[in-house]
Amino acid sequence: MIKKIIIYPNPILKKVARPIINFDDELKQLITDMIATMFDAPGAGLAAPQIGVARQLVIINTSKKKEDADHKAIALINPQIYAGEGSEIDTEGCLSVIDYTAEVERFKKIRVKALDASGKEIDFAAEDFFARAIQHECDHLRGKLFIDRISPLKRSLYKRRLKKMLAAENKKQVGDK
Ligand code: NI
Repeated sequence: MIKKIIIYPNPILKKVARPIINFDDELKQLITDMIATMFDAPGAGLAAPQIGVARQLVIINTSKKKEDADHKAIALINPQIYAGEGSEIDTEGCLSVIDYTAEVERFKKIRVKALDASGKEIDFAAEDFFARAIQHECDHLRGKLFIDRISPLKRSLYKRRLKKMLAAENKKQVGDK
């Protein structure tokens, strides 16, 4: 089932996610729903807090292009980035941050430990776009968004613009009634 994605500045996005302990059918369903939600958007990744579940689960789109129909994705449970090297600046966006992208600095290469959907430990290296997506999604689990990694000035300009956008939308909705 496609879930509603929570949008900044909703405070739910600031919550720190708790580890997953039970590898049951409920978790399998959550993973299925998150994958469907991510491809529907479409997005490069999705973290459980973005659909209001404060648990340490992220989905990463591993299709060649994020719009591709081959729909490849991996689920990382209780992920930990335990090593990082190099740095790279690139443009990022987020399904929870509407109408905005910004340059963000990230590690170029990382090593990740996580559990898979069956609870088995996985340990792998990632680089470039794949590494960026994992770093971005893992930030969500700590209540952090990419706009927390840009300059305060840029962030306040975006906040102001967002307020105006949301106010205009509300006016339109009231007018429609
Ligand atoms: Ni995001």
